[in-house]
Amino acid sequence: MLQCTNISKSFKRDFWAKEFIALRSINFDLSQGKIVGFLGANGAGKTTLIKIILGFIRPDSGSINILNKDWLDESVHAQIGYMPERPFYYQNLTGLEFLEYCGKLQNINKNDLEKNIDKWTTKFRIKFALDRQIKGYSKGMLQRLGFASVLLHNPKLIILDEPLSGLDPVGRKEFKDVIREVNKDGVSVFFSSHIVSDVEEVCDDVVVLEDGVIVYNGPIKKLVEENTSNEFIIKYYNEDNLESLVVSSTDKDKKMYELLKQGMKIERIERVSSSLEEIIYRLNK
Ligand SMILES: Nc1ncnc2c1ncn2[C@@H]1O[C@H](COP(=O)(O)OP(=O)(O)O)[C@@H](O)[C@H]1O
Ligand SMILES: [Mg+2]
Repeated sequence: MLQCTNISKSFKRDFWAKEFIALRSINFDLSQGKIVGFLGANGAGKTTLIKIILGFIRPDSGSINILNKDWLDESVHAQIGYMPERPFYYQNLTGLEFLEYCGKLQNINKNDLEKNIDKWTTKFRIKFALDRQIKGYSKGMLQRLGFASVLLHNPKLIILDEPLSGLDPVGRKEFKDVIREVNKDGVSVFFSSHIVSDVEEVCDDVVVLEDGVIVYNGPIKKLVEENTSNEFIIKYYNEDNLESLVVSSTDKDKKMYELLKQGMKIERIERVSSSLEEIIYRLNK
């Protein structure tokens, strides 16, 4: 669906400064129909790559294919919905006026526009506020309106830059539900975040960027499985003291047997697991 090949980008902050390399030979391939998280610390280069994908800035080298076309081909843009990191909304328009305005900019015919506004504002539970001016919207409402606006032209892929920033836990949960809704409708989703837990729950795949280099690209499941240790922790009571012992999977039966023989009461045994956060932290070393 989207293939980046050897994308590199440097910035020169001023004439005398040394070039700063923001992206180094980025290669990845997004498969269609998935929710893909784009993870990286602040300054890793996520926004730069997103701007390149959208054709706002040009890479120094490399090329991108979107839906089997060169990414600078105009017909490609009609297939993409994009929400920037800091969207701007005309405060005095009502939600409905804003969506109609977006639709006009994208040359959507009146019937389709009406249908799509109805569909997405119903799904995102923002229909009730469409007659209100945007200045009265909460952050979560604004975001839902923003989502609706990028979906009006039936894009095949939506690209969202840090859509979760500034949302409270309820807003985050809502976002995840909304993303699943959109994806169920057949839209592929690519969204950036610097927070691992946001990506962990909702994504199929993840692309991890560190200082302009991709350090992992693939299923989240695989990343977690491959990095989950083969060690177990046995918790047991030695008289009244809860003690624990870390053993390898091959030793665990023997050790448990020994503990029982010594009269210990086994409380539980579990695999030593690591969160995605720990894994990514390790990857980046
Ligand atoms: N126009 C620019 N000129 C100079 N440096 C830039 C420019 N845009 C981005 N950068 C630098 O590139 C790096 C990556 O930035 P960015 O892509 O915004 O990161 P992220 O979105 O992952 O936080 C940062 O160090 C940033 O300062
Ligand atoms: Mg950014």
